[in-house]
Amino acid sequence: MTSENRPTLHDATRGRVLFGGDYNPEQWPEETWHEDVRLMRDASVTSVTLGVFSWAKLEPTPGAREFGWLDRLMDLMHDNGIGVVLATPTSSPPPWLGRLHPDTLPRTEDGRTEWWGGRQHFSHSSATYRRYAAAITEDLAARYGTHPALTLWHINNEYCTYDYGDEAAAAFRRWLRDRYGTLDALNTAWGTAFWSQGYDTWDGVLPPRTPHYLSNPTQVLDFRRFTSDMLLECYTAERDIVARHTPHIPVTTNFMPLFFGVDAWRWAEEEDVVSVDLYPDPRDPLGPQHGALVQDLTRSQARGPWMLMEQAAGAVDWRGVNHPKPRGMNRLWSLQAVARGADAVCYFQWRQSRQGAEKFHSGMVGHAGERGRTYQETRQLGADLARIGPEAAGGGVRADIAVLHDWHAWWAGSQPGRLSDRVDHPVVLHAWHRALWEADLTTDFAHPEHDLSGYRLVVVPQLYLLTDAAIDNLLAYVRGGGTLVSGFLTGVADEDDRVRTGGMDARLRELFGIRTLHEWWPLEQGETVACDGFAGTLWSEEIEADEDTADETIPYKGGELDGLPAVLRAGRAWYVSTLPEPDALRALLARIAAGAGVRPVLDGLPADVEAVRRGELLFLLHHGCEPVTVEVPGTHTDLLTGATVTGTLTLGRYGAAVLRP
Ligand code: GAL
Repeated sequence: MTSENRPTLHDATRGRVLFGGDYNPEQWPEETWHEDVRLMRDASVTSVTLGVFSWAKLEPTPGAREFGWLDRLMDLMHDNGIGVVLATPTSSPPPWLGRLHPDTLPRTEDGRTEWWGGRQHFSHSSATYRRYAAAITEDLAARYGTHPALTLWHINNEYCTYDYGDEAAAAFRRWLRDRYGTLDALNTAWGTAFWSQGYDTWDGVLPPRTPHYLSNPTQVLDFRRFTSDMLLECYTAERDIVARHTPHIPVTTNFMPLFFGVDAWRWAEEEDVVSVDLYPDPRDPLGPQHGALVQDLTRSQARGPWMLMEQAAGAVDWRGVNHPKPRGMNRLWSLQAVARGADAVCYFQWRQSRQGAEKFHSGMVGHAGERGRTYQETRQLGADLARIGPEAAGGGVRADIAVLHDWHAWWAGSQPGRLSDRVDHPVVLHAWHRALWEADLTTDFAHPEHDLSGYRLVVVPQLYLLTDAAIDNLLAYVRGGGTLVSGFLTGVADEDDRVRTGGMDARLRELFGIRTLHEWWPLEQGETVACDGFAGTLWSEEIEADEDTADETIPYKGGELDGLPAVLRAGRAWYVSTLPEPDALRALLARIAAGAGVRPVLDGLPADVEAVRRGELLFLLHHGCEPVTVEVPGTHTDLLTGATVTGTLTLGRYGAAVLRP
């Protein structure tokens, strides 16, 4: 869809950083709406998202339309200078839809129905669901398309529902026919010779419903691809409706952060604005690194500014134990998002609910109300963003390093029947990104088939599955002068999840200077393997280097693998066959980056300080509690305080500075 004429996030922000959140006024009496608007203005709120869960309110009985309340709200927002991100309400169908049309309800892999009474209980494949969703979307677009408050369309919410039911099974067969053409091709791709699974008719092909023992892995992989595609079809169907009515208004749907269920690379191509919901754990010392990872990934998917659609002002309610954010953290993490390319900082939700499943989830206005610390911090942040917004919005974040990530590799590599269920794709991805983050090296993310030629260093934490095109791409990248470093279990399978001859693609083995990959040696929880100068965790490999091409090795020391390469380099291609402990991985990647000509954002940064450049601005973010002094060469103005900074700067607990030269 993304044609050159489509509107962009800039059309919604108009050069500011948007600030606001999901607003669910249907939970409140109308007097509260006026109180809300007073507080929103007080807190410099510029954007609210309306209608995310309003289907039953808009269509209380089949075909009815109740728009009056929303008309009043749209006007109220406009009169107060607040833009509206208008959602289609299709992620939570009203109870009548499931009652009258049970075919709209999804089924789990063991045949259980997911009933109404919660949310997201819709079958992506249900023609009835799609018909009702299209009708309400059409009417919303027709009614509000010309409303001056409308700034952005928000389709559905966090698409994530799987369906293994009969209508989904029929859709899965159609999808497979498109992919394979013939049953023979499907049987070959799925390797159905194994365990007597050969199909004699398309009607026999099912979603991977609960088997007696291990499902066919390629069937599972294709089902994940299919689910992502079907959900995407639901999105594009609604997007096309609103785009027809309002070609000038951009369209988004909000991703969950690093969410397993949808191929977000592919989805991002269908969005005018890429948006994400992000909820790092305030108690997790690596919370900010998780934030940075998701922000880098989202910026890369957006290929520019992106939208933080949801975060929490304080506690969430879905971790076992849910902690509030300590004073200052909400502001700090919001500034981090802006530093890493966000042009919108928004929340779930504006006012904390008093009823329903999320009444203990924080809001920008908490149960403590206007006097509460959460609201007071909301206010301060609103003022900060109003101050820095015009200078920060639209700015690019330059990265010389790309970290490769691919959902298909994740899907294929996380099935049962592997040598270690401790090798978890997101854990490995986080470990590698952490090493770069701690070394103050700014990174983008990229898909293995993207053009990588603009990067000095490409990092592959782990891509178990690589297509032939991706392998060609990596080889061309190194041939073209790029430096590549890859972690273990990469290039093992082809796109049908068939193990490549030799256990790893032959061209990759040659690239990395590997003659033979003899065996994989997974490590137990807490077990390490000694390497020369560091310890490896999680995994190790029995590799024989190719003496003709390998230029450098760091060997395993002692044990079964004594003397064999833990790390191997051939020219500009590095292979790391274990997961080095964090300090060692950081040192290794910093060394490789330096060799590739990549510099940290700033030299000599204290450990808890994160530095990011966005456009000409330098963001300094202090994730610790003790004051620190940072050396910043030159003279700058701190946009948050207006102070002039010359040479050094002291940051207090959760302190931040946004420096303009
Ligand atoms: C998101 C969702 C919101 C709310 C929030 C709570 O996943 O989109 O509606 O449930 O989580 O953290």
